Amino acid sequence: MNVHSAPVPPPGCPAHDPGGRVPLYGPDFAADPQAYYDYLRHYGPTAPVELAPGVEATLVTDYTAALNLLRDPAFRKDARQWRDLHSGKVPEDSPVVPLLAYRPNCMFADGAEHQRLRQAVTESMTRIDSRHLAQITEQVSAYLIAQFSARGSADLMADYAGQLPLFVFNELFGCPAEIGDRVLFGISGMFDGVNAAESAQLLHGAVGELVSLKRDRPGDDVTSWLMEHEADLTDDEMVHQLSLLLGAGAEPLRNLIGNTLHRVLTHDRGAYQDVRNAINDTLWKNPPIANFAAHYPADDRMYAGRQVSAGQLMMVSFAAANTGMAQTEDHHAANRASLAWSAGPHACPSQRPATGITVTAVDNLLGRLPDIELAVPAHLLTWRPGPFHRALSALPVRFGAVQAVGRPTAPVSPQHTTTRAEHPAEQRRAGGPGKWTQFLAWLRK
Ligand code: HEM
Repeated sequence: MNVHSAPVPPPGCPAHDPGGRVPLYGPDFAADPQAYYDYLRHYGPTAPVELAPGVEATLVTDYTAALNLLRDPAFRKDARQWRDLHSGKVPEDSPVVPLLAYRPNCMFADGAEHQRLRQAVTESMTRIDSRHLAQITEQVSAYLIAQFSARGSADLMADYAGQLPLFVFNELFGCPAEIGDRVLFGISGMFDGVNAAESAQLLHGAVGELVSLKRDRPGDDVTSWLMEHEADLTDDEMVHQLSLLLGAGAEPLRNLIGNTLHRVLTHDRGAYQDVRNAINDTLWKNPPIANFAAHYPADDRMYAGRQVSAGQLMMVSFAAANTGMAQTEDHHAANRASLAWSAGPHACPSQRPATGITVTAVDNLLGRLPDIELAVPAHLLTWRPGPFHRALSALPVRFGAVQAVGRPTAPVSPQHTTTRAEHPAEQRRAGGPGKWTQFLAWLRK
């Protein structure tokens, strides 16, 4: 759709009916979200959308209006104020409720409580050593590539981008083998939507055990640093902040790696000699979290020229705000930051490690499989439906088969080598070695 033409709703959009809300779900939206954003801009800085059947929201599509909302304490993050959920208007079993409903973590906290939880998170993430992070990412990358390199083909979402962040997190959080297996299994199940409730329970249980373990035997890891922090988190608070870090981290990171690989593979390779440029362009033009940052006005008020009411759901379209800005000025020259990480007090606290992991993951893959290319024409690639994440369903590639992928020689953390043997009952319950155990065995070969 041409941005300069008169606004016409994209094909399939019920906004063809006057008064209709624009749906941010379904195959038409997934196929061409930019056409939707171009259309939504004709409403002005905010537009009426539907996130799922029966779930209404006001979407901010303008860069400056988005910054104003993200920085204004009159817009709250506490989802217990979400009027339509509590009035019963939003169907309880709506697919968007699990991500938007309140949990006691820093993403849903405001004011002093937010500061306390957020500081614990930020200061613990800051302690991650970037050399150690690059080392572990390289090890995980080499291991995952070794699983498919002899085939000469792979789906980079399922075989690489989807798995790499989870393995890296297991290391950063100091997960011993068996707990790490259940964390991997639980998160993957939640994202795949297979037995989502059961998987969430499994994850919660595994993280709870990790917390008890680290209370007894702290290590040099994010879990122990969070625990040591002066915020003095209770066990319950620990479990919720750790689950947030795993949940808020794994899905966008997989998509930052996936969308960056997609950019490199669909452009002239010479344009992206430096992978940081590919990441930067991805953050501007195809951000992994396209629409999020749910906020609720504390009271009825005027915002961006419109009346908004207390407890109404407002979301920010990072994708629309970025592309709108890129169309109106030279954003690189103007040095305005992309909104892909959000802004204000709830901006992503993990930009540095997330970028570091992505650089290593992409560089290592392209370095080890230099002739890698898409296995299907780019226009046949499909994207997962849903309003929040910009995520490829699959990224099929082919390359000259490689028999042996070298294993980096960095040492395995001692905590991984000892704890498994101390939990034989857990090992039996898990039904044999899981993915994390197999990775640790590969490292020790
Ligand atoms: C190491 C991986 C990551 C971790 C551990 C992580 C963690 C978090 C946490 C804890 C928050 C909530 C902060 C708060 O409410 O004060 C957050 C927010 C956010 N993160 Fe990340 N993140 C990661 C990667 C990413 C990536 C790759 C992106 C996309 C480029 C991203 C984009 C965002 C955005 C847009 C928000 C604001 C969400 C909102 O306000 O609703 N994050 N992240």
